[in-house]
Amino acid sequence: MASKFQVPRGTRDILPGESERWIALEGTTREILSRYGYREVRTPLFESTDLFIRSVGESTDIVRKELYTFEDRKGRSLTLRPEGTAPLVRAYLEHALGHGDPVTRLYYIGPMFRYERPQAGRYRQFWQIGAELLGPAAPAADAEMIDLFVAILRGIGLKDVRVLVNSLGDSVCRPVYRERIREHFESREAELCGDCKERLRTNPLRILDCKVPTCQPAIASAPSVLDSLCDPCREHFDGVKAALDALSIEHETAPRLVRGLDYYTRTVFEVHAAGLGAQNAVGGGGRYDQLVKDFGGPQTPAIGFSIGMERLLLATGSLETGAALRPDVCVIAREPGAVLEALRVARELRGLGTNAASGLRVLVDLGGRSASAQMKWASKLEARFAVFVPSDAAGYAVRDLDAGKDAPHQTDVPSLRAWLMEQAATVSEDVTR
Ligand code: HAM
Repeated sequence: MASKFQVPRGTRDILPGESERWIALEGTTREILSRYGYREVRTPLFESTDLFIRSVGESTDIVRKELYTFEDRKGRSLTLRPEGTAPLVRAYLEHALGHGDPVTRLYYIGPMFRYERPQAGRYRQFWQIGAELLGPAAPAADAEMIDLFVAILRGIGLKDVRVLVNSLGDSVCRPVYRERIREHFESREAELCGDCKERLRTNPLRILDCKVPTCQPAIASAPSVLDSLCDPCREHFDGVKAALDALSIEHETAPRLVRGLDYYTRTVFEVHAAGLGAQNAVGGGGRYDQLVKDFGGPQTPAIGFSIGMERLLLATGSLETGAALRPDVCVIAREPGAVLEALRVARELRGLGTNAASGLRVLVDLGGRSASAQMKWASKLEARFAVFVPSDAAGYAVRDLDAGKDAPHQTDVPSLRAWLMEQAATVSEDVTR
């Protein structure tokens, strides 16, 4: 069916068949987050532009090239959120969510927006699951965060993953490292791509993250951040690795892992999954011990991560279309005048408003088809039963479509429902095939 309109470039529709997978993913993730003590925050899809410039950082690709920024009718500059951490920290301070508790655990699930070049696993609107732990500075917090990340991946059946960790130091040792890196790349500027030449001036650490082949020799010989850490940062990083060992979480130290946001301090990490191609990070995160303070709050160490939901689904190989849900019952109107009775009977069979657990999935054909065409429709949907209206002298006629034979008549709707429920219980585990 042709339309004059198409979905905007870099965005996608999540259609029935796929949407069930999203619902399942969200359900599993929420359950795991709640078992770790996390509670959800839903922030607006847009915020004042300044919020992102001051947190993500003026010289990052996200702020320089990828923001969806617009003015509202009063001339305020607003931006569709490119990530969830800065909005969450804003909300944390605005509503004093940390009040009275030195440790606050929060999460969000929702769409983010970045004007990136679209490719497999990279979109302009994409979904993130994010968790943020505000308060604790100790390495045990970093380990719990990574443990939670891995628990979510395991929970949805993703096992083939690599956990990469690094430390970016703090305000004491990072400037020293940045200067060393700048000097290193300055001496090899001729080898760098155009973007990296610019990064040399604005954000030299980001050169380490460049994927352009000609930049790789200069990157490979760059000094390691781990050699520049001050004693407290080194101790912290050793503590994180020891804590991961204690929790039996396999991990690799990745001294070139820098990440694309400026708010990080000390620990950063990424989780890579097989089968994702170039966009192999299913998620990442790190510490941001200064961000709460930068936003005007008290000194509050924090750490968090975000998982890209499209990438998570791609990595589990399940972004493809699945089967439709199978109805328990199709109510067949034997004559055109019976369609309203069909709707009434269907509503009662669904059992809503009584006990939701004791309901059935019930469909009525609204296409005005003949009774025999409705029967074909019911078998195409693989309905378990057909119920016929109007009722006759013996009550409601029922056909067991799975068994291919008539079932006993049921005298009224309550007994019809009770009988169908009893039958459906034997197949209910199977309805989502
Ligand atoms: P990020 O690395 O920018 O971190 O994004 C996290 C994840 O979001 C990525 O690993 C990827 O799975 C997904 N993602 C990012 N951009 C796209 C895109 N264009 N298309 C599809 N998926 C994408 C953050 O956003 C930080 N807020 C993470 C964090 C939380 N750090 C501390 N707390």
